[in-house]
Amino acid sequence: MAKRPRIAVVGSANIDLTTFADRFPKPGETIFGQKFDLGFGGKGANQAVAARLCGADVFMIARVGSDLFGPATIENFRKLGIDPTYVKQVEGLSSGVAPIFVEPNGQNRILVVKGANDAIKPVDVDDAAEVLMSVDCIVLQFEIPLETVYYTISFARKHGIRCILNPAPAQPVDMAALKDLDYFVPNESEAESITGMAVKTIEAAKKCAAKLVEGGIRRVIITLGANGSLLATREGTEHVAPFSVESIDSTGAGDAFIGSFAVFLGEGMPEKEAVRRANLYAGLSTTGVGTQKSFYDRARFDAEWSTRR
Ligand code: RIB
Repeated sequence: MAKRPRIAVVGSANIDLTTFADRFPKPGETIFGQKFDLGFGGKGANQAVAARLCGADVFMIARVGSDLFGPATIENFRKLGIDPTYVKQVEGLSSGVAPIFVEPNGQNRILVVKGANDAIKPVDVDDAAEVLMSVDCIVLQFEIPLETVYYTISFARKHGIRCILNPAPAQPVDMAALKDLDYFVPNESEAESITGMAVKTIEAAKKCAAKLVEGGIRRVIITLGANGSLLATREGTEHVAPFSVESIDSTGAGDAFIGSFAVFLGEGMPEKEAVRRANLYAGLSTTGVGTQKSFYDRARFDAEWSTRR
């Protein structure tokens, strides 16, 4: 039987307000949308949920607001079996929220108001040190303060814990602080804005990933949406093909990739195999509406995998 990974996510939790519309309104224009969905989201929380549904023991380190979303978010973690001991409510701040617009082809636009996510500081990482030192892998994103992200990367290095960073949403970054990472996992647009290189084709993505590796990041995975993903290491770059799915909402697909990848790797699968499976897990998440609620559990995923491999 595969090892059961222990994964900690130091990251964001949001409430997603998703509107489905034929198109995005122009400035000054009002149009009708077709459908609305309210759900639990946030890149960190989504990655935690994907990891949990794939079978890991998961610990969330996060901050939520002193509004009605705060306790509901904590309860959602508990219900899913994610340990929320280090998810705290912050007085006087709102929870993170994300108005999301989805067009008929499944493409999304997301606006994030960070709220309490901005209140998680390096000292909170120290407070959770005992739990963090007990895990096999720490997963990070950019919806919390960068000082906390950098601090957690060096914490992970110091204690020999695998560390995966999803630099989303993209922002100016101290590349030197990323050299201690095990995996750097941007999507095309994040890779583009962080490196300044256009990432419009698989070839361009290869060049961009190779540049990141030359710059000192050990392992880079660029997720390419419907084109699969690209794995780059000092040994070379490799395109990992996608699986075909009927996509209706791509929101959270990157999070599904990262959470599931952390689990597959933690179970001891070879890296490329873990990337292939994460490609499928992410693809399947786009066949349902919303983020966490569109993620497959392990039994459903394994059944699908056995028909696709
Ligand atoms: O990656 C999708 C997520 O981005 C959404 O759940 C939203 O909350 C934003 O964080």
